[in-house]
Amino acid sequence: MRVWENLDEWQARRRSLEGRSIGFVPTMGALHQGHGSLVERCRAENEIVVVSIFVNPSQFNDPSDLDRYPRTLAPDLAMLEKLGADEVIVPSAADMYPNGYSIRLEPHPDDLVLEGAYRPGFLQGVMTIVMKLLNLVRAHRACFGEKDYQQLRTVTAMAQEFFLPTVIVACPTVREKSGLAMSSRNARLSPGGREKAARLFHALSTANDCAEARDMLEKQGMEVEYIEERWGRRLAAAHLEGVRLIDNVPCC
Ligand code: PAF
Repeated sequence: MRVWENLDEWQARRRSLEGRSIGFVPTMGALHQGHGSLVERCRAENEIVVVSIFVNPSQFNDPSDLDRYPRTLAPDLAMLEKLGADEVIVPSAADMYPNGYSIRLEPHPDDLVLEGAYRPGFLQGVMTIVMKLLNLVRAHRACFGEKDYQQLRTVTAMAQEFFLPTVIVACPTVREKSGLAMSSRNARLSPGGREKAARLFHALSTANDCAEARDMLEKQGMEVEYIEERWGRRLAAAHLEGVRLIDNVPCC
């Protein structure tokens, strides 16, 4: 497994891989089994597996969330090596944004709902960084988890709209036994908080409607940001112990 910090060197390496099928998993590190499943999917379907680790500042609307975002490079690389990744790109913010955040992609105003509304700038930041990464990697397939459902939808639409050659592959959410969707942010929950957090999935899956799901979560002490049904999914964001949790399940 090769690790690339320098983007010129990575691009030279990429040119040498011409003709091979490439699968790509973009990440912000703090890797868990959810990321592991994306890497395994890429491993099964492509000759070369590329992973990026970059905590993207432009998608954080809350500076303290960016500061507290877990950074665990050494164990991340050990995990990727075990999973059989071939190439890992670990660029600096200065290299990813050589002119600052001066050029950015804008979602359609109709998409500024849920994450787009509650996290101003989030979708812009994700679209912009994913466009940069997809152009740097020029993968045949890129894997995204369904847990970040709105991100997956936006990136899929962006790839189609801009005629990108990469197929966006939607991968199912990986859950702990309790039902809790795997997330890098779960590391900041207490053991009791982790148990409570699993109620999010249960409420989304079992409630008759969004109002009932909200009620169930508020009774658990969660502060609900939104619960809505859109795009054939029931989606929610809620805060617990200062951690923002999101999840979604198929519905309707
Ligand atoms: O889902 C994530 O980890 C990030 O939003 C992504 C896609 C790597 C872009 O920074």
